[in-house]
Amino acid sequence: MSQSILRLDGVSKTFGGLKAVNNVSFEVERGAITALIGPNGAGKTTLINLITGVLPQTSGSIQMNGRDISRLGPAQRVRCGISRSYQTPQMIRGLSAIDNVVVGADLYSDFAMLDLFTRPWRVRRDNRAAQVAAHAALTQTGLPSSLWNNPADALSYGDQRRVEVARSLAQKPALLLLDEPAAGLNPTETEDLGRDLKRFAHDGLTVLLVEHDMSLIMSIADRIVVVNFGEMLAEGTPQEIQRNEAVIAAYLGADPLDTPALSSEATA
Ligand SMILES: Nc1ncnc2c1ncn2[C@@H]1O[C@H](COP(=O)(O)OP(=O)(O)O)[C@@H](O)[C@H]1O
Ligand SMILES: [Mg+2]
Repeated sequence: MSQSILRLDGVSKTFGGLKAVNNVSFEVERGAITALIGPNGAGKTTLINLITGVLPQTSGSIQMNGRDISRLGPAQRVRCGISRSYQTPQMIRGLSAIDNVVVGADLYSDFAMLDLFTRPWRVRRDNRAAQVAAHAALTQTGLPSSLWNNPADALSYGDQRRVEVARSLAQKPALLLLDEPAAGLNPTETEDLGRDLKRFAHDGLTVLLVEHDMSLIMSIADRIVVVNFGEMLAEGTPQEIQRNEAVIAAYLGADPLDTPALSSEATA
């Protein structure tokens, strides 16, 4: 099997007349952490949505483990090993942390998403496999077990983030997609997140994350893919990206509040 787990070939997505993603090709290396970066509006979230199958691409193809998944729906892609965590933790109110994760594990066993959110009590019944997967996933994220039975929506933001990630892990993915996982986290929580992601990758999971926190990216990413105005700008190691003239120009030309400088303490 090839080194890359995911491969995008000339992927494009247009919304009306807008080319949100334009002819993007890159590969995601198996077992590595790849960061997808670019200024706001560059097409990062759209790319994540194309990979998960939430949006159909306008043209191009996406392969997972050498199989063309371009025409598969989101649930089928989960079964191919692709799982994503949401930018804002989507806790189901009234459910404990553990039950919120069981919901994710249950999704793996073929529940419709709408069903889960409208009739969550269904997931608590007789699904030992989901319970076991949820326990393992929560343990992986490091959420203290004393919090597992607390209402998920009463947890701290950082802990809700863990539950959100655990829900994805419970689907036993080969590829975990995260859209801005550090957004809203304090520096300590961000460091914890970085350590968690490193550990996941060390244990064999492939991680593709969209992130703005440059010091986090520079300290954990093995590869970086840069997009700008929907197009590929560069691809390489953090060191290569930091030196890349096109990347520097794109970032210098952007609003510094949206796009933190590429320099980073973490790599100094
Ligand atoms: N569902 C949609 N309908 C129309 N335009 C969209 C939609 N989703 C994203 N866009 C547009 O596509 C471009 C890329 O957006 P997005 O992928 O969210 O960028 P990023 O995540 O890099 O900030 C933006 O111009 C955005 O306004
Ligand atoms: Mg986005």
